[in-house]
Amino acid sequence: MIPIAQPLIGEEEQTAVHEVLESGMLASGNIVRAFEEEFADYLGIEHCITTTSGTTALEVALRALGIGPGDKVLTTPFSFIASTNSIVYTGATPVFADIRPDTFNIDPEKIEAALRADSDIKALLIVHLFGQACNMDQIIPLVEKYHLLLIEDCAQSHGAMWKGKPVGTFGDVGCFSFYPTKNMTTGEGGAIVTHDDNLAETCRLLINHGMAVRYHHDLIGYNYRMTNIAAAIGRCQLRKLDRFNQIRRLNGAILTEGIHHSDITTPFVQDDAFFVYHQYTLRIKNDKRDQFTDYLNANDIGYGIFYPLSIPEQKCYQRFGFNTVWPVTDLIKNQVVSIPVHPGLSEEDLDMIVQVVNKFQ
Ligand SMILES: Cc1ncc(COP(=O)(O)O)c(C=O)c1O
Repeated sequence: MIPIAQPLIGEEEQTAVHEVLESGMLASGNIVRAFEEEFADYLGIEHCITTTSGTTALEVALRALGIGPGDKVLTTPFSFIASTNSIVYTGATPVFADIRPDTFNIDPEKIEAALRADSDIKALLIVHLFGQACNMDQIIPLVEKYHLLLIEDCAQSHGAMWKGKPVGTFGDVGCFSFYPTKNMTTGEGGAIVTHDDNLAETCRLLINHGMAVRYHHDLIGYNYRMTNIAAAIGRCQLRKLDRFNQIRRLNGAILTEGIHHSDITTPFVQDDAFFVYHQYTLRIKNDKRDQFTDYLNANDIGYGIFYPLSIPEQKCYQRFGFNTVWPVTDLIKNQVVSIPVHPGLSEEDLDMIVQVVNKFQ
């Protein structure tokens, strides 16, 4: 079976983890600080605060921005659930705007319609889904016009850019995940990045029980600290990130060049987006998605359905009474199939994927 994802852990990571274990300094310390500086430098941003996951990064970022009960945050209905859960954790109310059928990212026109309809919306949480930036030329003017806070969920888009500027650096805050299937990993882990000194300080307090001076707690915070063990892996992975992304892009290009099928659409790429192919997501039309996934299974090709349901229709949100009709999301969720594009694929794997997909009947 060709897996849909495959973390690439080499000797460097093993040695780095071993060194941390030998040092006895396992929890958050110098290695975490070094990783934070390197990740901030990579993005060209002032601050990075690492956390235990992408989910906790989002939660802390929203809380540090002062978002809480009574606030409304506009977001996408088509994402991993953490992007909405993080809003709910703060006590704020998520409000949704539908996606574009080509990129699967939140649609700037729908954002503006939602903002016109509801002047109470305080923040916009966008997700750069599958490794492709949202159209920031359309989003930034809306953020300015409607005086919104902007949170970028970059869990799937490490190194992705819009017109050469890395995602995570456009808004008030950017949040990353280092889960093993992501473009780079720390095992579990996350990061908050920001230009804002005060926001960075609040995030740093929140992830460490609100404690600047030992056992003096200025805020009710959490223990969301990354460990030195995770950061040691992250430092090695960060050095490889551009190469990993280059291979993902090359693999994506090979798939797009090779796949030609009347029922299948390959990913749409915006001219101004540097797409890092966290996922390579096909649209399978004419109600043939189930048939297609059975066929991939039979041919030993791993796949993922990201995502089978919209967020507002998830069972856990039933009592919230969200609108569950999102025409574009509802179309796309029934068509998408992500196939392997990760840097662990061989030429033979790519060849086989192309051939199998093209022979689908
Ligand atoms: C879009 C999106 N947001 C947030 C997260 C949450 O990250 P984590 O799994 O590290 O908590 C993920 C990852 O799974 C994600 O894909």
